[in-house]
Amino acid sequence: MDSMEVNKAIAAVLVAGITFFVAGTIGANLVTETRPAKTAIDIQVPDTSSSKPAAPAPLPAIGPLLAKADLKAGEDYVKKVCTACHTFDEGGKAGVGPNLYGIVGDPHAHMQGFSYSDALKSKKGPWTYDELNEWLHQPSAYAPGTRMSFPGIKNDQQRADVIDYLHTLSHNPEPLPPATAPAPTPPPAGAAPAPGAAQAQPTIDTLLASADPKAGEADTKKLGCIACHTFNQGGNVLIGPNLYGVVGRDQAHVSGFDYSPALKSKGGKWTYDQLDKWLTNPAAYAPGTRMTFVGIKNPKERADVIDYLRTLAANPEPLPAKP
Ligand code: HEC
Ligand code: HEC
Repeated sequence: MDSMEVNKAIAAVLVAGITFFVAGTIGANLVTETRPAKTAIDIQVPDTSSSKPAAPAPLPAIGPLLAKADLKAGEDYVKKVCTACHTFDEGGKAGVGPNLYGIVGDPHAHMQGFSYSDALKSKKGPWTYDELNEWLHQPSAYAPGTRMSFPGIKNDQQRADVIDYLHTLSHNPEPLPPATAPAPTPPPAGAAPAPGAAQAQPTIDTLLASADPKAGEADTKKLGCIACHTFNQGGNVLIGPNLYGVVGRDQAHVSGFDYSPALKSKGGKWTYDQLDKWLTNPAAYAPGTRMTFVGIKNPKERADVIDYLRTLAANPEPLPAKP
């Protein structure tokens, strides 16, 4: 084999190598990364509506549903289903779907840099409760062409639970919509009040005399207080302040907690009476409060909760003198 042949052989190998490298580089540059149009995970939630009606019935108003929403149930549902594609913590990364911290009241397609569908990007304005209600009922109907391949939550209360949870994911949760005409507490059976007569409600002092702190503790779970508050001594600040020893203390008493001016300006003590008013309707007691909670409408339940709060102290405040 003369040296010419050897040179040719080496050249052939070099050319092959260079071609391979160049082709690879060009190829890599030509094929830009794209998100798959269809998401890999496709969760099927059984559709409870048996057969599709010709004209879809309008969804029930979200306000009253949110008023009796179960925050914990909403959180559980989200952890079970939505976390397959979404993160919910502040500053969390995108998954198949965008991070959802602070979504209530934020504009549609709120996450910078996330590759949204045109369907969602073309929606204007902030995510209202009504829009989230429609979206989560059936994403593909609200935004035809959306990339969120999720059939929707057909159960109205479950959907409200989830939206209620979403609305807590904020430093400054959006106020809940009005719970149109809450049912008035029914008068005791047999005692039909004379028309026009002021209905005599038992006072908090009377109710506390027969209150059950164990039931009150259970109520703080059922009503979702525990989503925003801890109750143990030295417990963490969540969305709301720690509530150990709150009875008898100054209003807005946890130092370092960022209270609303509405509550800070109250300046009094948390007496039984004040707590009763506050827990009946926080927004009416301190307009502008950051506690986005509709209130406990049942007086007995309220008294149970207040009695439970009372027990959270080394030296619980005495109960009011029997009236
Ligand atoms: C299979 C993956 C997947 C599941 C499961 C899923 N999502 Fe999504 N979600 C997405 C994708 C992808 C988008 C972006 C949609 C688009 O661009 O059209 C999105 C968008 C959203 C948006 C709008 C965000 C914005 O910035 O406007 C909300 C709100 C939302 N999802 C809530 C939920 C909730 C609540 C659940 C659970 C009940 C859920 N998603 C379940 C993939 C998913
Ligand atoms: C969505 C979150 C949330 C829920 C649910 C919630 N709270 Fe609050 N709570 C707050 C916030 C936020 C504040 C501070 C309010 C302010 O600064 O206006 C607060 C304040 C309070 C205070 C006054 C504390 C102080 O230091 O003055 C009491 C008492 C209280 N909550 C009790 C309850 C009880 C009892 C429940 C359940 C029946 C409940 N909260 C449900 C968020 C919540």
